Amino acid sequence: MAKLMILTVLGLGLALFRDHRSSYRTRFNVDREVEPKQLPSCKFVEGIEVGSEDLEILPNGLAFISSGLKYPGIKTFDPDSNGKIFLMNMNDEDPKILELKITGSTFDLPSFNPHGISTYTDEDNTIYLLVVNHPHSKTTIEVFKFQEEEKALFHLKTIRHKLLPNVNDIVAVGPEHFYATNDHYFVNHYLRSWELYLGLAWSYVVYYSPDEVKVVAKGFDFANGINISPDGKYVYIAELLAHKIHVYEKHANWTLTPLKSLDFNTLVDNISVDPVTGDLWVGCHPNGKKVFHYDPENPPASEVLQIQNILTEEPKVTQIYAENGTMLQGSTVAAVYKGKLLIGTVFHKALYCEL
Ligand SMILES: *[C@@H]1O[C@H](CO)[C@@H](O)[C@H](O)[C@H]1NC(C)=O
Ligand SMILES: *[C@@H]1O[C@H](CO)[C@@H](O)[C@H](O)[C@H]1NC(C)=O
Ligand SMILES: *[C@@H]1O[C@H](CO)[C@@H](O)[C@H](O)[C@H]1NC(C)=O
Repeated sequence: MAKLMILTVLGLGLALFRDHRSSYRTRFNVDREVEPKQLPSCKFVEGIEVGSEDLEILPNGLAFISSGLKYPGIKTFDPDSNGKIFLMNMNDEDPKILELKITGSTFDLPSFNPHGISTYTDEDNTIYLLVVNHPHSKTTIEVFKFQEEEKALFHLKTIRHKLLPNVNDIVAVGPEHFYATNDHYFVNHYLRSWELYLGLAWSYVVYYSPDEVKVVAKGFDFANGINISPDGKYVYIAELLAHKIHVYEKHANWTLTPLKSLDFNTLVDNISVDPVTGDLWVGCHPNGKKVFHYDPENPPASEVLQIQNILTEEPKVTQIYAENGTMLQGSTVAAVYKGKLLIGTVFHKALYCEL
């Protein structure tokens, strides 16, 4: 009897293990091969070699790019330098990057580890840049004022909160107001790899303002990119390991209610929204396992999708760019400006293409 029970327990254990193994293969899209889809003219952004994890292009064509992310379990080509924010003007014939100076006395530059970024422009045209930072593997949100003349970011404030334990990305809705995704996995220098493997839906979304902080959506298998429609009525959330983009309706009291979800055959990372058309541009990992288990001989691929008419019955999803990692490794984000596409990556280069 005891033997039978041991065998049963062992059998159950093995079945569970097998189940998780197959779910792991699905969640990380382990088996997908990438067919290349090239654009007519692409070149690397000179000077970006250690990631361009997140980027945002202002309506006037100025692009902010965060670079040098150190995320536990994920490759970095430059472990000893602090992260940087670059500025690039998409209107230039041959755009060059410029590192923005960080000013303001309260800021600890050597531990700057920028992750998701988002801008907010107020009525006086003051531009605020909100940056998810991981100093010493903690999470803070740094609020900067962009000073275009000085080519500087003036540090205004550091935000910390117990509902913001491991933030991945944010979308600003005011100078100190934002929605943030907590991915759950980034804590104290290590990746919670067993939990990542098990895929419990730990991840959630928080609304933050100086007056009120609350969880507005939860139960995600790694909530990643987040963004908002140009009219401010809808919030888009990328669920990385479930390969879904969720559309939420945003209410005046900042709560969100689910409206619809779209399924993909790729790990959806960052979402940018074209302010002119409202289209979503998504940086994706066709084969996510290669991002978490880096092998230079077999690097992670890149893929960019465009989603048009997301609110209608039949959204149109177009693969714009795909490449097996020989050229561009681990794309996370893509944004457009006047027929040009800028693609960022977790730890590799950045690519600038004509559409
Ligand atoms: C962009 O992608 C990276 C890589 O997964 C992610 O960690 C980061 O938070 C994303 N940023 C945005 C703006 O979604
Ligand atoms: C927020 O607004 C929505 C829509 O009006 C409403 O259904 C919901 O009950 C409100 N929630 C809170 C907590 O006030
Ligand atoms: C990736 O594609 C290039 C050509 O597009 C090819 O030469 C190379 O062998 C491919 N690499 C892998 C790992 O499939």
